[in-house]
Amino acid sequence: MTTAHPPVPKAELHLHIEGTLEPELAFALAARNGIALPYASEDELRRAYSFSDLQSFLNLYYALMAVLRTEEDFADLAHAYLARAKEQGVRHAEIFFDPQAHTSRGVPIGTVIEGLGRALDAAQETYGISTRLIMCFLRDESAESALETFEAARPYLDRITAVGLDSAEVGNPPSKFREVYARAREAGLKCVAHAGEEGPPAYVWEALDLLGVDRVDHGVRCMEDPELVARLVAEQIPLTVCPLSNVRLRVIDDLADHPLPAMLDAGLLVTVNSDDPAYFGGYAQDNFTAVRDALGLDEDTLRTLARNSFQASFLDEETRAAYLEEVDAHRGA
Ligand code: ADE
Ligand code: ZN
Repeated sequence: MTTAHPPVPKAELHLHIEGTLEPELAFALAARNGIALPYASEDELRRAYSFSDLQSFLNLYYALMAVLRTEEDFADLAHAYLARAKEQGVRHAEIFFDPQAHTSRGVPIGTVIEGLGRALDAAQETYGISTRLIMCFLRDESAESALETFEAARPYLDRITAVGLDSAEVGNPPSKFREVYARAREAGLKCVAHAGEEGPPAYVWEALDLLGVDRVDHGVRCMEDPELVARLVAEQIPLTVCPLSNVRLRVIDDLADHPLPAMLDAGLLVTVNSDDPAYFGGYAQDNFTAVRDALGLDEDTLRTLARNSFQASFLDEETRAAYLEEVDAHRGA
């Protein structure tokens, strides 16, 4: 008889809370808010999850957010994610949200942050998961809009650990957001940015040199530039890689060709994450299992990835050490 092992304890560092909106919850919130969705059923909606690139995904991702209107909606969304994350061995989650995708629809930023905050306040006790919030700027919106968003969030900065940068990458380089990142750092926030997902290695250089990021989100295209790899290795800048997302958004043709093993061999501080799990076919452990199977990773390598996730997190040293001990004590993949 085989004994099922619990999933390895891990931190999720690249997770868009709006990307955890499952069809069932989307329909429930649409009904609660009297909103008509342009899909007849959950199955029909699920059939729309076939993407040719990042933009084709973003179109659906933003459209479906119409169902999120009240504090309760945001709290329900976060609770649903945390319940799933617990089953997947997530012990710590650093969660992105996109305020401009809501304020542009007339939802106040306070509704978004208080709603998410309500769920996160209960996360440790209810799910055994520690949490942080990362506020992302939409890079296909203007630099002025990012600055206005940052100022609107000032009353809530005690709830926010870091700022991030997401949405359509190509044509919207990190350099556009220098000023808002300087302001965020001055306010004591950490900085991360999506770079090198669809965009070139030059965008990763900019994220490092012009935004001063503490982590790079995705970053897989760094492998095209050996000097960039050397820099990331030397400074042990973490990369939050999202394997199932890369396949669904056609950044990588086939999971078996994913550069994850080469990234680990190069000495990069790589982590494995789920990005938008409701859309990409898997949560945190699903991504671990998928890379294990497609790339033949052994238990030690999966434990390394789990260790990396806590090393790369914004946790305090004492909590980080406690989680690392849990990983070292874990057996099974
Ligand atoms: N917003 C949500 N998911 C994203 C991704 N993978 N890249 C850029 N922006 C995003
Ligand atoms: Zn992302």
